[in-house]
Amino acid sequence: MKHETLEKNATLLLIFSLLVVTIGGLVQIVPLFFLQNTIEKVEGMRPYSPLELAGRNVYIREGCYVCHSQMIRPFRDEVERYGHYSLAAESQFDHPFQWGSKRTGPDLARVGGKYSDEWHRQHLADPRNVVPESIMPGYAFLASKPIDPKGFGANLATMNLTVNNGKGTMYTEDDIANAEADLVAQATGENTDGLMQRYPKAVARNFDGDGQITEMDAVIAYLQVLGTLVDFSTFKADMSR
Ligand code: HEC
Repeated sequence: MKHETLEKNATLLLIFSLLVVTIGGLVQIVPLFFLQNTIEKVEGMRPYSPLELAGRNVYIREGCYVCHSQMIRPFRDEVERYGHYSLAAESQFDHPFQWGSKRTGPDLARVGGKYSDEWHRQHLADPRNVVPESIMPGYAFLASKPIDPKGFGANLATMNLTVNNGKGTMYTEDDIANAEADLVAQATGENTDGLMQRYPKAVARNFDGDGQITEMDAVIAYLQVLGTLVDFSTFKADMSR
């Protein structure tokens, strides 16, 4: 009977509705402020190695994300074409994220290991070399743009500023101090012990076959690691949440 008063009075109903929505909203939102991280931890995820990070910088600079997404949606057609749907943790170290909003070309979230380095080199130089009907522009100039490893640690330190309001530690002091050595090790495939310890599963080799470390090496190293860090033969999604 008391409820009848509420139902017959529009203003009162509005006030009480707002009250209910506010309480519901607070219950959902407030706990999030007390969590360090809302992303479920997934084994295998690690920040990008210095060379991969350099490649990612080129990827962003050249606007590859304008034509390519890095976000596999949990739909059957996408999963059959690209592989396991993307996990939040897989973008955890991507600041800014590279999900993209348009697919002129295919999704690249799991392109790592799909092609050889030589394929990528030919493709980036001029996509028509390997895909005759391709409309992707060529990026041959990357092969003649050297990367100076000197001072590369600053790039890692900058990435730290992007997490946890600038107080984050995506990279440790040790990672930053070894950035130059790690970059060279990965692009040459030599003296890779420290690199492999800091960045497990890093693909270390001479990517474009010449003696110089160029943006071509960096972009290929980046493409070859995409989607390879999480082992989906052992990964189990936590459905209890
Ligand atoms: C104007 C749109 C456009 C831009 C910009 C572009 N791409 Fe593409 N990309 C495509 C299209 C279309 C394809 C499919 C045809 C082909 O393989 O060339 C493709 C294919 C690819 C593939 C092969 C994917 C697969 O699974 O077969 C890779 C790798 C790739 N692009 C990387 C890049 C990188 C790296 C950049 C930036 C340096 C870039 N693309 C910029 C349109 C674009």
